[in-house]
Amino acid sequence: MSSQREQWGSKLGFILAASGSAVGIGNIWKYPSMAGQNGGGAFTIVYLACILIVGLSIVVAEFVIGRKTQLSPVGAFEKLAPGSNWKWVGFLGVASAFVILSFYGVVGGWILKYIIDSILGGFNNLSGNPEAAGAVFNGFITSTYSPVLYQVLFMGLCIFVIVQGVKGGIEKWSKILMPIIIVLLAVLAIRGMTLEGGMEGLSFLFNPRFEDLTASAIVLALGHSFFTVSLGMGTMITYGSYLNREQNLMTSALWVILLDTAIAMLAGVAIFTTVFALGANPAEGPGLIFVILPSIFPQLAGGTIWATLFFILLFMAALTSAISILEVVTAYFIDQKGWSRKKATIQFGSIITIVGVFCSFSLGGGVNLTGFLGMSFFDVMDYLSSKYMLPIGGMLTAIFILHKWGLKEYMNELREGMNNMSVPDKLVKTFLIIAATIVGFIIFNEIYFTIAGKALIG
Ligand code: PHE
Repeated sequence: MSSQREQWGSKLGFILAASGSAVGIGNIWKYPSMAGQNGGGAFTIVYLACILIVGLSIVVAEFVIGRKTQLSPVGAFEKLAPGSNWKWVGFLGVASAFVILSFYGVVGGWILKYIIDSILGGFNNLSGNPEAAGAVFNGFITSTYSPVLYQVLFMGLCIFVIVQGVKGGIEKWSKILMPIIIVLLAVLAIRGMTLEGGMEGLSFLFNPRFEDLTASAIVLALGHSFFTVSLGMGTMITYGSYLNREQNLMTSALWVILLDTAIAMLAGVAIFTTVFALGANPAEGPGLIFVILPSIFPQLAGGTIWATLFFILLFMAALTSAISILEVVTAYFIDQKGWSRKKATIQFGSIITIVGVFCSFSLGGGVNLTGFLGMSFFDVMDYLSSKYMLPIGGMLTAIFILHKWGLKEYMNELREGMNNMSVPDKLVKTFLIIAATIVGFIIFNEIYFTIAGKALIG
């Protein structure tokens, strides 16, 4: 089977595809609002530490497992540990893909709607009026048909890209979209910094306010470091499985992490400089993007253009991530069930879209799904995946290497393609142990909190 397996066309294509997966709504929507609410620079320091210690180890681990086995997660674990229960880590990944893409597609739909609104000048009458912008946003997401329509459109685009395959779809589109994302974001960040008063936004984002950094913010930073680098559900295993032995997995992983972090920071700069220059409320949480920005863009010269560029950028970032999630599901049915790419993508893309429709409805659009676990179905999907499924998947991947597959075999595969770069076994082992321990403790703490009502820390 592996002789006909699809492959990336180039080293750069692979790095852009993997960073396209990493750079998404998490970087542009979630990170700035989380940092804003949880101590600015203090949150950023914890987030960076998590990415460097935990994130880097797991990205490399996923690449190595994928390239070694040339299979997506379920098949990969099965091949390395035949007949064992480890394949369930792979199944957990496929399940996470379902969960994440169902709500991710809904947000993707919102972004499409905001592109159209901004082009049509729909933000003009929200100028300087966040209450009005909030009412428009809430009215939209709690309605029945409109958000679903945009969600279906967004999911249709994902299916369209994935049906075209690894090189002709994922790689081609990542190579087109990633450079545009970087340029657009740089332009928006420069624009923000040159606004009068914009620099205050930088100190809000980067000055550490340790008094605002609670223990639960630390948990948030850890969970987010998985989400933002697309870890713990086999996305990077799947992308790694389309590689040949020439790729240097260590430098590739460093590139992915660097690009992901740089883009999150740039997004924070672009957003907070603009928010401060116009005297808006910086700590608005998720509403920052869909409420605050639409109320301040019209106050800028050329506001319609800036707003449109921003939402186009957000759309591109969301699309390159969403396709990577769908690819995990598609690759499972291709590798394990022998389905054609087209059949797997269309069938499961549609099923995920339907689950997503319920996520959207749960926000108020008719079907009452609210109340489950005390939050909407939409929030449940977000909460389950970022707080449990991804960290557990990542932790088990690290444990798998240490206890089942063996460090020696792992290092042999990692060293392929690394040329003269030397990485001591001990260092890799230490990083993997630290990653598994930190994540294990945090998950335990979360579960303890849910059951006992109080946390060990936080
Ligand atoms: N990394 C993506 C983001 O930051 C989300 C994602 C999570 C993509 C898990 C794939 C897998 O938005």
